[in-house]
Order: sequence, then C-alpha cells, then structure tokens
Amino acid sequence: MNVLILGATSRIAQAIAAEHATDGDSVLLAARDRDEVKTIASDIQVRHSTRVLIGDFEATDFDSHVGFITDAIEALGSIDTAYVVFGAMGEQAASEKDFSAARTVLDVNFTGAVSISEALAGYMEERGQGVIVGISSVAGDRGRQSNYFYGAAKGGYALYLQGLRGRLARSGVHVMTAKLGFIDTPMTFGLKTKIPIASPESTARALKKAAAKGKNTFYYPWFWRQVMFMIKAIPERMFKKLKV
Ligand SMILES: NC(=O)c1ccc[n+]([C@@H]2O[C@H](COP(=O)([O-])OP(=O)(O)OC[C@H]3O[C@@H](n4cnc5c(N)ncnc54)[C@H](OP(=O)(O)O)[C@@H]3O)[C@@H](O)[C@H]2O)c1
Repeated sequence: MNVLILGATSRIAQAIAAEHATDGDSVLLAARDRDEVKTIASDIQVRHSTRVLIGDFEATDFDSHVGFITDAIEALGSIDTAYVVFGAMGEQAASEKDFSAARTVLDVNFTGAVSISEALAGYMEERGQGVIVGISSVAGDRGRQSNYFYGAAKGGYALYLQGLRGRLARSGVHVMTAKLGFIDTPMTFGLKTKIPIASPESTARALKKAAAKGKNTFYYPWFWRQVMFMIKAIPERMFKKLKV
C-alpha cells in the first residue's frame, strides 16, 4: 500500500509512518521542515526496510496543493491512503488581539486541510478507490471561550469531512474523521489534567485499525465520545459561565 502523510514532523504522524512501515507499506512523508523530515525518514528507513520518500508541503500555500498531489502520485505510483495530520493550536489570547494570528489558525486547520483534502478527493474519486483520514479534534465538538479559533477550524473541518464522505461514498472512496482527545505531543506539553493522555503510538495503531475497518467518525481515546456527549448536553446558559 502507498501512504501519504501530511504534516509528517508531528509526533502522531511519525507514529503513523512507523505503523505503516512495519507493515511494509511505502510512505511519503510531507512536511514544511525539510531537515527534520529527512531525519525522520532516515530513522524509519533504518528500522524498517521499506520505501520512505519525502516531500515539501506547506498547508497555507493553497495554490500548490493540486500540484503537490500530482507530484506525490508520480513519486509513490499511487496514493492508497492519505492522512491529513498537520495542525496548529495557536494562542487564543494572541488570536483575540490580532486577527492575523487567528487567521493562521483558521488557514492551517481549516482552509489548508480542506484544500489538500479536495485535491486528494479529486484524484481518488477518479480512481474509484482510496482512503482519506482527516485529523480533527474533540475541541471541534463545542465552542469554548478558551480555544474557539482552533475549535472552530477543527469543527469546520469535521463538518467538511462529513460532507465529503457522503460525496465519495458512491465512488468507493472512504473518508474517516478522527476526533482526538489528549495525546502526548508538543501540542499538549505542560497540560495539567486528570484525564488520561494517550501516546502517539497507541493513537497511530488505533487510527490505522479504524480506517481499515471503515469507521466514519472515530474518537480516540474512545471515552472522549462519552465525554463530549456530556459536554454538548450542558445548557448554553450554564456553559457560557464556565471558565473552559
Ligand atoms: N496532541 C493532541 O492532544 C491533539 C488533540 C486533538 C487533535 N490533535 C491534532 O493532531 C494533529 C497532530 O498534532 P500533534 O499533536 O502531533 O502536534 P505537533 O507534534 O505539534 O504537530 C503539528 C504538525 O503540524 C505541522 N504544521 C503546522 N503548521 C503547518 C503548516 N502551515 N504547514 C505544514 N505543516 C504544518 C507541524 O509542522 P512543523 O514541525 O514544521 O511545525 C507539525 O508537524 C493536529 O492536526 C492536531 O490538531 C492533537
């Protein structure tokens, strides 16, 4: 199988790449930091004797995305499964003060993710097969005052993926929405919580398995589905007063 991983320097993406490399799949690691992705690729190549390619990818360079997919197909031979992993949490306070900071969060997590997913969808629809795994977040399930730019972008991407899943269902292409809870990566560094934090490795295993099973919306860790069910049930008149 030929696998494209977008945002390959992410800790979760690295674990996904290792998971697929273990199976002998070819992987194309795409990221904006060429030196870092080269190091990651060499490491995977040494550990698993499989084909590991690298590519330059910038989520906010929307006009480059169709060309990027064309080049990725040429390099890999085909794209059977693509993981849209990149993301940027940003700083809520900075986004409130300066819209250009908010815009980066929206551009990376929503517009960039949609733009590259559309390029993938066009290719897979014509081919009549393929899997797109879009990484969203439980933060997208309800707008919170402490994180609503990131939450809005992730929630918007989840809605987009839901629509895309419907569009592609008839052409044999599967779209999975992954709604992640707390995962141990630089994004959650310093987070103080009593809620268990999952490892990137267990996340990668779970994502690969769920995608193979054809799951539509997949919460990981699993208990976040219930947590978000309860959070969504809190009446707005109470929710707006909570410092969350
Ligand atoms: N960790 C969690 O608890 C958690 C929870 C829910 C959802 N998620 C989602 O999981 C995904 C992976 O995040 P992570 O936790 O693994 O965090 P991470 O290690 O910080 O990874 C974020 C990745 O996004 C890339 N990126 C950011 N802006 C980009 C841009 N403009 N163009 C291309 N790539 C860009 C980063 O590249 P650089 O290395 O170049 O900065 C990095 O590879 C993200 O979509 C995140 O929103 C994470």
